[in-house]
Amino acid sequence: MWARAVSLALATVALAGASDVLYEISDEQYYEMPTLFHLDEYERCLATRGVYCTGSFELSPQGPHQLFQLMQRYAANWVDNFNHTRLHRGLCVSQRCRQLAPQQHPGQGEHNAALAEWFESCVNESTMLSYNLSSRLYQLEYCRRGEVNPDGLSTNERAFAGFVAILLALCAVSTVLDLTLSDHAKKGAAWALSFSIPGCWRSLLAPPPCSSETDLRAFDGLRVLCMMCVIIEHVCWITTHTFLADTRRYEQTRRALDAMLMANSTLVVQIFFMMSSFLLAHKLLQQRRRGEQVPVVRTFFDTMINRIIRVSPSYFVVVWFAASWWSRAGSGPMWTPLIEAEVNICRSKWWTHLLYLNNIVYANDKCLIQTWYLAADMQLYGLSLLLTLALWRCRRGAIYVLTALLAGSIALLFGLAYTWRLVPTFVMHRPESVRTTYSTEPSFNVLYQSPLGNVPGALAGLLLAHLHHQLLDSRIVLSKYKWFRWSAVSSVCVSAWWVAASPLLLGRGAPGRGGAAALAALERPIFAFFVGVALLGAMHGVPSPIGSFLSWRGWGCGARLSFGALLLHLPLNKSLVAARLAPTQLDRQSAILEWFGVASVSYLAALPLALCVELPAQRLHRALSALRRRSHAQSDAAPHDTRQKTDL
Ligand SMILES: *[C@@H]1O[C@H](CO)[C@@H](O)[C@H](O)[C@H]1NC(C)=O
Ligand SMILES: *[C@@H]1O[C@H](CO)[C@@H](O)[C@H](O)[C@H]1NC(C)=O
Ligand SMILES: *[C@@H]1O[C@H](CO)[C@@H](O)[C@H](O)[C@H]1NC(C)=O
Ligand SMILES: *[C@@H]1O[C@H](CO)[C@@H](O)[C@H](O)[C@H]1NC(C)=O
Repeated sequence: MWARAVSLALATVALAGASDVLYEISDEQYYEMPTLFHLDEYERCLATRGVYCTGSFELSPQGPHQLFQLMQRYAANWVDNFNHTRLHRGLCVSQRCRQLAPQQHPGQGEHNAALAEWFESCVNESTMLSYNLSSRLYQLEYCRRGEVNPDGLSTNERAFAGFVAILLALCAVSTVLDLTLSDHAKKGAAWALSFSIPGCWRSLLAPPPCSSETDLRAFDGLRVLCMMCVIIEHVCWITTHTFLADTRRYEQTRRALDAMLMANSTLVVQIFFMMSSFLLAHKLLQQRRRGEQVPVVRTFFDTMINRIIRVSPSYFVVVWFAASWWSRAGSGPMWTPLIEAEVNICRSKWWTHLLYLNNIVYANDKCLIQTWYLAADMQLYGLSLLLTLALWRCRRGAIYVLTALLAGSIALLFGLAYTWRLVPTFVMHRPESVRTTYSTEPSFNVLYQSPLGNVPGALAGLLLAHLHHQLLDSRIVLSKYKWFRWSAVSSVCVSAWWVAASPLLLGRGAPGRGGAAALAALERPIFAFFVGVALLGAMHGVPSPIGSFLSWRGWGCGARLSFGALLLHLPLNKSLVAARLAPTQLDRQSAILEWFGVASVSYLAALPLALCVELPAQRLHRALSALRRRSHAQSDAAPHDTRQKTDL
């Protein structure tokens, strides 16, 4: 057994030695390699009825080739570097390689295959000439001649336009009613006013409900802050996804601490999972403390329906937009590969979004990639709700059961990660894998977007809620203890440090199998642990500068808009990047600018979504259920209670 393990390890080392990874190369060597990304002028090409093609090429030498070996050895560090033996080009073929034009047979239209062949020979000629390397076209995005005429509107697009018109009309009518009706008339017609914009604006700005026992004010600030982390990660992600101008800088900064913090900051999604299961369990446990009766089945369905009504309207509208009008929102050399490809996926898998199963069904096709979170959150919310209701009777026992489940899920994740050679977040977000939207990376489906991979976050939230109520029951005030105050304050920094520095544990280059699996299974729980300690501190009133910063009242409105921003920032930004005419730059300066740019545009765009879709739907639901409750009360009361009838 041991002998086999040792020999396996030796074989791995030998293999690593043979593939001969090159970690550092000089600038001179770097720029001897061919440029990875290039785009010719798109609009000029099409306006002059030229042929424009975009695609990716594989280079190969025709004999021993020193430069090619250098490229291979440098690309062997696949965690940090692009694969330099693949080139990505968008060329005005008709202008560059007029002499290679395919012969046109009269009476026969141009074939796409002929254009692709033209494109390939054009690139091959230039790489043969400059590098003595032959290029083979392995992925053609498109070839087109002349300007693209948009098709007529499809039924789907007409329907979406009609829907938006109806929505705006509803908002207008409701707003007029809200402004003109008397207070008395309003009371009877709350449902008719649910679309009123001033009314929604008031609910948006309403102060969050307060509770004397538990200080939850920090949650709003935390939500906005986490959203910002997600946005910066996605900004850099999208740029990696398109054509990048400064690959050298990108590869060099990938191991810088701030770049790792940024790339790994998708771990903060765990905070969202924790908050959502914590708040759920906290609400139910509060009912238990007050001694209220909670019928299991009814609570389950009511809570789930409430959740679905909160999340769905905006979500479905954005999915519908993505499946209809999005493809018309711009143009550019990268528009077809980036946006139109995604729109086509959205058109075929939209129904999985409606069922909140898009992270499991057709998991490889990504439509609005960030929405995996909504699906996973809904699934885990249901699970957390069931667990809380199942553990209703046990108090201390619940903590043991949840801890055991947490440990079990971590062990299971480790087992899966080891068997399938899955990798932790930072390695998963490697350049080539981002370029292909993780289509060759099983870790994304199994660990990142699956409910299983995120179960530790949800369980940690449940555990936190149960622990908190246990403490309340036994009247322990944690903020009295010095050790706790210290650990609560320091765990904020430790969690940030963990995000930034955990990739360093694996060392440079390709990670070992066991180490990668261990980090993949543990990075989320460890992060969740430190965040949990910090949150417990914030709830128990441990004073800390970050706590008071996050408890600022002004976050409330931003927190309510965060959901819209989550939905919108990626499509918005992707459109902006895909409409670029030249490869994009990504370095610290531009990342900061883009970060705040995207964040403000997303929050601004989330405002109409919240005012016209999200809040009206919630208000309508509330008004209708109040109406129903009242009519129930009436019909129940009618046979034997006449007093109530006369009152009404
Ligand atoms: C190109 O490479 C081949 C094989 O490596 C070699 O035989 C040939 O001489 C090279 N041509 C030039 C122009 O360097
Ligand atoms: C780089 O791309 C080539 C051609 O597609 C492939 O054969 C090679 O395995 C890739 N290298 C790495 C390190 O992935
Ligand atoms: C590229 O061109 C060279 C000669 O110019 C040829 O030998 C080679 O087969 C071509 N490669 C491809 C993939 O067509
Ligand atoms: C979207 O991201 C790109 C680069 O990632 C950035 O240049 C652009 O400004 C961003 N969009 C907005 C709305 O700021």
